[in-house]
Amino acid sequence: MKTSVAYDYRDMSKMAAKMVADAIRARPNLVLGLATGGTPLGMYKELIRMHIEEGLDFSQVTTFNLDEFCGISPDNKHSYRYYMCQNFFNHVNVKPENIYIPDGKAEDIEEFCREYDRKIEELGPIDLQILGIGRNGHIGFNEPADRLKVDTHVVTLAEETIRDNGSFFDDPLDMPKKAITMGLGAIMKTKKILLLANGRKKATIMASLLKDRHVTTKLPASFLYLHPDATIIMDREAAGEALERKTAG
Ligand code: PGA
Repeated sequence: MKTSVAYDYRDMSKMAAKMVADAIRARPNLVLGLATGGTPLGMYKELIRMHIEEGLDFSQVTTFNLDEFCGISPDNKHSYRYYMCQNFFNHVNVKPENIYIPDGKAEDIEEFCREYDRKIEELGPIDLQILGIGRNGHIGFNEPADRLKVDTHVVTLAEETIRDNGSFFDDPLDMPKKAITMGLGAIMKTKKILLLANGRKKATIMASLLKDRHVTTKLPASFLYLHPDATIIMDREAAGEALERKTAG
């Protein structure tokens, strides 16, 4: 696992966007795994700038999102589909038919999960997967547990995750308690992973992840140690003072 420390959030976002852009330029029909949350917003902003100013072309790119809240329709402003459209898809030329995001309102949610994995198998493998990290070490919504699921599944969100995301809802009590998430299987099968972390609130979990190299289901991001091509880019606040600045690529 490679680690880089960016100067700040802006620098981290630019490094991440450059990695995505380089991958698309090398392979225009890239299969790109995408994440939501606060962390990747700056990366999306930079990718939109690259699309507008440098002609970065997403027309052949296929995207798979990691997760979605259960019980929320795609046009609900709190859904991750809505987030993706507002913050990225509406501003670049990814074709709507090439966008895959779990459907939190699927009638048969178990069947939907199986179908999502089948689609990833059919169109994948995912060339580059973007990940954030929860303060509890989750990736996607794979929460710390005794056992981690391999396949796409419905998960009961951890208390900490509900607290961290509740503030995005007008009434924090409206925050769904369940979500659909890609499992560790699809994440580990991706060709390349880029995990981003920024801000002081991530410093404790990044220290736990990086301090002694071990793998545990209690810290799902630790499975990245077993991935053949995983990179972490974090800003100085998330990295703490222990790590010196390195530059990407
Ligand atoms: P955040 O969420 O980007 O909003 O911090 C990250 C995550 O929970 O994976």
